[in-house]
Amino acid sequence: HLIVGCGLSGSVIAERIANVWNENALIIEKREHIGGNCYDYVDDQTGIRMNKYGAHLFHTKDEGVWKYVQTFDKWTRWEHRVLSMVDGQFVPVPVNITTVNQVCGENIEDTEEMDAWLSAVQYKGPIENSEDMAVSRVGRVLYEKMFKPYTVKQWNKGPEELDPSVLARIPIRRDFDVRYFSDKYQALPAKGYTHFFERLLDNPRIQVQTGVDFFKYKLEHDLGQFKSIFYTGPIDQYFDGLKLESLEYRSIDFHIERFSDMNYFQPCSVVNYPETNVPFTRIVEYKHFLNQTSKHTVTVKETTNDHGDPYYPIPNKRNMELYECYRQMAVKEEKEKNVHFVGRLANYKYMNMDQAIRNALDLFDRINSKEEMN
Ligand code: FDA
Repeated sequence: HLIVGCGLSGSVIAERIANVWNENALIIEKREHIGGNCYDYVDDQTGIRMNKYGAHLFHTKDEGVWKYVQTFDKWTRWEHRVLSMVDGQFVPVPVNITTVNQVCGENIEDTEEMDAWLSAVQYKGPIENSEDMAVSRVGRVLYEKMFKPYTVKQWNKGPEELDPSVLARIPIRRDFDVRYFSDKYQALPAKGYTHFFERLLDNPRIQVQTGVDFFKYKLEHDLGQFKSIFYTGPIDQYFDGLKLESLEYRSIDFHIERFSDMNYFQPCSVVNYPETNVPFTRIVEYKHFLNQTSKHTVTVKETTNDHGDPYYPIPNKRNMELYECYRQMAVKEEKEKNVHFVGRLANYKYMNMDQAIRNALDLFDRINSKEEMN
């Protein structure tokens, strides 16, 4: 079997092929390392482990996925916290009672008062886009100060241009809970994500070749030798040259800064900067994760753009309609050539890590039960 891409989706499929079917899996990965966007490494100047492609916090409610990841490596419970810089002060994210009191000058003391405040400010009309959605969740003031400018920076589009789903899941804490996620399982791999991937791929039946691009590879090799192909790259690239336009993606620039002899730069691992007069969207200080120790610290400023590696699909009408055309071509490709499209780029859908694992496990199970029937 050939697997294109050594991110979570490709690696989970390879692991299943090797361990369940006892068959060979060759993974080709165009980057120079395994792990896809989850890849992490230890910074040689500070000794701090950091993610190359943005902070990655594992969180899930899915018992099966949680059990699955634990079979390969040790995970340490980690409750993520995020602050946002609004009007010169750090406020908790997701919005909780403290956030409302700080940003809106309220004096709310308990959940009952918070509920009353929310229902007074929430927009109750029809929901046509992400602006309506956000105002229906947090009201106009928080929307204008926190969600609107951040969304514009993140997507280069106003919330009114984006599908309601983009801001549909803004979590709100009706109490003083400062945790970013409320899932039952929240953890980080004790020795980092790259170590987790090494364990996941630790089977002699799995071979990984990094620095190999599928589109070059297929010109030089006979793909007919593979029983099946699992493609985890961008779906529009796979069908490139077939007349359809390209899908749009948002990308991120990561700007690393090191601070010698500084304990911490900021009060928690992630601080969001929603305001438009600040060019970056957030600052990540990796030292906070798993309370790493170092005499120094390192921060990464993230700025979004639309020219780099594809990170986030942009879910608006044009892209969703275009994706549907690609999806139909993918269905045909699967039937005719046994090519499976798996993962966030091949499905043009933002997926958290647990969703990507679930998606890959379910795909494998579907194929497996078909094979068993034949
Ligand atoms: P992924 O992109 O990881 O892997 C695809 C691989 O295919 C890549 O390595 C790519 O190089 C390779 N590839 C593409 N084209 C190829 C070609 N032509 N030839 C060979 N190889 C090719 N999730 C979460 O649960 N918590 C979090 O905190 C975060 N944080 C986060 C931050 C940022 C900035 C991003 C962009 C994403 C997250 N995520 C996240 C989501 C998480 O990164 C995501 O769920 C997984 O990376 C999905 O794994 P995939 O394998 O589907 O894609």
